[in-house]
Amino acid sequence: MTQGRFISLEGGEGTGKSTQARAVAAALEKIGYKVLLTREPGGTSGAETIRELLLTGAEEKWDIRTEALLFAAARAEHCAKLIRPALARGEWVICDRFIDSSRAYQSVDGQLSDSEIMDLHRIGSENLMPDRTFILDLPEAVASRRADARDRGDSDRIGGRDSEYHRAVMTNFRRFAADDPERIRLVDASQSVKAITGNLVQNLDGLMS
Ligand code: TMP
Repeated sequence: MTQGRFISLEGGEGTGKSTQARAVAAALEKIGYKVLLTREPGGTSGAETIRELLLTGAEEKWDIRTEALLFAAARAEHCAKLIRPALARGEWVICDRFIDSSRAYQSVDGQLSDSEIMDLHRIGSENLMPDRTFILDLPEAVASRRADARDRGDSDRIGGRDSEYHRAVMTNFRRFAADDPERIRLVDASQSVKAITGNLVQNLDGLMS
């Protein structure tokens, strides 16, 4: 049996990742692939428990290194119990956020270096990397309007950080796409939902057998 394919969707708050993750999963199922749709942090019961720890409570609840370790621990659990077994069964895995979120968020202001974050990923998840990653890109004003409308003043611990933080996150994501264009594709998320999904599916070139 052939190994499955691993796709991650990334981007800032309010860029429409979750909607697109569902739409791409449905498009792949329609053409006959078996698909596992999942998210980070989360995906397994243990990782969802860690999600709750990470995203609730006061900003100062966790030191940045603890925060990075908790994301890595949730990911380790998710890879071992859900993602690797699905790939081994030949399924497509569509994941709403993965390692590039840790690289983009936990590195802001030089908090952790990219190599430190990748070291945690090597230890926790044996360096599992997506075959393709889409970064949904929206102008800052549009993304923050959408995130505000969704959260209605009740953002989670990380989503609620200031606009400077979120601007730095998006700059990081754009840099990753420029540095690794083979794996990471930047997608204009200001088009219609349908047009974006079409664009994403088209960008799975070379991965469908
Ligand atoms: P979500 O609600 O968009 O799924 O994401 C949860 C929050 O966690 C979001 O603000 C991004 C943040 N996050 C990190 O900071 N590092 C990570 O590794 C992941 C997966 C998410």
